[in-house]
Amino acid sequence: MGLFGRSRTSVGLDIGTGFVKLAEIGHGGDRPELRRVEMRPMPPGAIVNGEVLEPGPVVDAMKGLIERAGVGTREVVTALGGHDTFMKKLQLPRLQGAEAASAIRREAARHLPFDIAGVQLDSHILDPERDDPHMEVMLVAARRERVEERVTLLAEAGIGAVHLDVAAFALCNAFTHSYPGMSQDLVALVDCGHDATTINVLHKGVPVLSRGHHFGLRGLAESVTGESGISSDRAVEVIRGDGHSHGLDASLDEAAEHLATAVERAAAFLRTQHPGTGVGRVYLCGGGACIPGMVESVGRKVKAETRAANPFENVVVRTGMRGHALLSEAAPLFLLALGLALRTS
Ligand SMILES: Nc1ncnc2c1ncn2[C@@H]1O[C@H](COP(=O)(O)OP(=O)(O)OP(=O)(O)O)[C@@H](O)[C@H]1O
Ligand SMILES: [Mg+2]
Repeated sequence: MGLFGRSRTSVGLDIGTGFVKLAEIGHGGDRPELRRVEMRPMPPGAIVNGEVLEPGPVVDAMKGLIERAGVGTREVVTALGGHDTFMKKLQLPRLQGAEAASAIRREAARHLPFDIAGVQLDSHILDPERDDPHMEVMLVAARRERVEERVTLLAEAGIGAVHLDVAAFALCNAFTHSYPGMSQDLVALVDCGHDATTINVLHKGVPVLSRGHHFGLRGLAESVTGESGISSDRAVEVIRGDGHSHGLDASLDEAAEHLATAVERAAAFLRTQHPGTGVGRVYLCGGGACIPGMVESVGRKVKAETRAANPFENVVVRTGMRGHALLSEAAPLFLLALGLALRTS
């Protein structure tokens, strides 16, 4: 590399149903440097339940963002969400190399909810250092058609090279980067987005449980509209803290109840698997974490310390960076984009 060679950067692209979001990280210094964040609205109804129903508008939204950020030729990391992936923690006899790979594949065929021929498999041995006779393996499978669909879509948006990551892993990656002291605790990371909510429980820095729920902020805005008769655009402003409307408090309380119940169910499931364990803290990310009062309300209901996850806690922010205002206005929306951008570091 020449003395004046550009330092390496990586780009994370989170294609959400509400917004497509981008974070660019520079890896030249001691710590990752945030160089840019951008977001752009996704046309309503273009992506539903993880499925791209209207590729044209989705490509246009991504293209606009990529062009503005000027990162089209750069390597971009994007995520496959819970709809398209399957994760399961398995216990297998401890094996090495090819023997381990074929045992994992056999076990995968037993557990997968879809035909193994149609999936791309990945696995991580969670306790490689231990020498007991069993090993813990995190199995990850992605539906091949969805992988191909994503790659095609990104190519149409003019993106040169694409890497795909599993959203739960990327979120976990961003979280452990932002809160390194938390890696020993059992933490529930709640990603409350526009269309859906995912509860990820992390233990020692790895996701041990990831569950999707059909509850998102679109539903909350619809509930406010239904209660008060205001327009849907106005309802979005109101839930973001701009003014008040009849029925807002009840709708917010109901939304917090949904999130708290989802966290409690995940915690109860974990207790059946690992008696004596408990979720010590809850972190909210995604749009849900930006709604005034939501973090506090969920905290009161789950009776555990609850905070908004700030993905920029442990990165150097480049002076004069594009999108700087978003760091204070909407930081929790960028946890996944940051985790994706950190993935190639
Ligand atoms: N400060 C804010 N800025 C932008 N959106 C916000 C803000 N506060 C709340 N929201 C709401 O958050 C939602 C967007 O959140 P987010 O970007 O996490 O969703 P998404 O990732 O696009 O959706 P999903 O993960 O369900 O596909 C929208 O419904 C939006 O109205
Ligand atoms: Mg999202």
